Amino acid sequence: MPHTEMIDVRSDTVTRPTEAMRAAMMAAVVGDDVFAEDATVNALQEKAAALFGMEAALFCPSGTMTNQIAIKLHTQPGDEVICDQLSHIYLYEGGGIAMNSGASVRLLAGDRGRFTADQVADNINNANDAHFPQTRLVAIENTVNKGGGATWDIEDIKRIRVLTQQRGLALHLDGARLFNALAAHQQTPQVVGPLFDTISICLSKGLGAPVGSLLLGTRDHMRRAHRIRKVLGGGMRQAGFMAAAGHYALDNHLTRLTEDHDKATALERVLRSMSYVVDILPVETNIVIFKLSDHVSTEDFLSYLSEQQVRAASVGKQLIRMVFHLDVSDSQFDRLLGIVRAFR
Ligand SMILES: Cc1ncc(COP(=O)(O)O)c(C=O)c1O
Repeated sequence: MPHTEMIDVRSDTVTRPTEAMRAAMMAAVVGDDVFAEDATVNALQEKAAALFGMEAALFCPSGTMTNQIAIKLHTQPGDEVICDQLSHIYLYEGGGIAMNSGASVRLLAGDRGRFTADQVADNINNANDAHFPQTRLVAIENTVNKGGGATWDIEDIKRIRVLTQQRGLALHLDGARLFNALAAHQQTPQVVGPLFDTISICLSKGLGAPVGSLLLGTRDHMRRAHRIRKVLGGGMRQAGFMAAAGHYALDNHLTRLTEDHDKATALERVLRSMSYVVDILPVETNIVIFKLSDHVSTEDFLSYLSEQQVRAASVGKQLIRMVFHLDVSDSQFDRLLGIVRAFR
């Protein structure tokens, strides 16, 4: 059988650095980042903070760590975090809210991970009643991974911001795919920066860097975050090699994100005409989540794809996820459409 390239649409985290990114990494000027002496890391932190109009940033190994540091920054053990039931911080960070911060969680049932200021208001505990945990933090995710890449309306975020400020709560954004949301709405980072106390952005998803996330916030937040990162074991030494990939990604891979969105929308169109698909979450960015008819087993569908050299993810009962990223070429995408169309 002739060799066919694997099309890997399980996640946008599977990308491998391009030749140009690798060259940028190898040319990096590095130092010991635990001493804050890595010039490439320092420059990346300054670049990201300036991009969002925030005071400071901290480079970390993962989006899980930047989220977990933010939760720890804003809470004390016993406090409560309000977030959506689909949120990554709740579902996919290993119970870190409890383990790292000793905080409890109030889950909201939003619309594909997005909730309203009224929902938040209804779930803030009475701080004067000792029965209740003290509500301290509201966390938003944009785009919502489990919501099929759903994006937030900026006006909804602004209403939540007003409420959290009135009630003395912190507001954190899990922006693992924030650049996808910004691209979809043609918004600039400067618009979202001032709406949050802390923002986590990932360089290793659609932006194509091999490793790395940044936590953004005030200088004081980042001074404390630096200590928490150390405690969590995330203090890296010559991290500039990785930060150089982040620089390259921010300089070169932002504008192409809409190509991934276009592929996701084109796939959605094809899936809508397939009898084995009974539902698709409306596609807004690079993620497509669809539901298989009860006549088709998830295992059979995934093994059919695998025989055709396609890897997709199972993300729930009868739910399949395909995510587009810079390692899915146009020709691979055409092949994928043919494979999806041919399934019986
Ligand atoms: C929405 C969201 N937040 C956070 C993360 C965590 O990122 P990492 O895998 O770098 O820990 C992910 C990972 O896929 C994610 O989808």
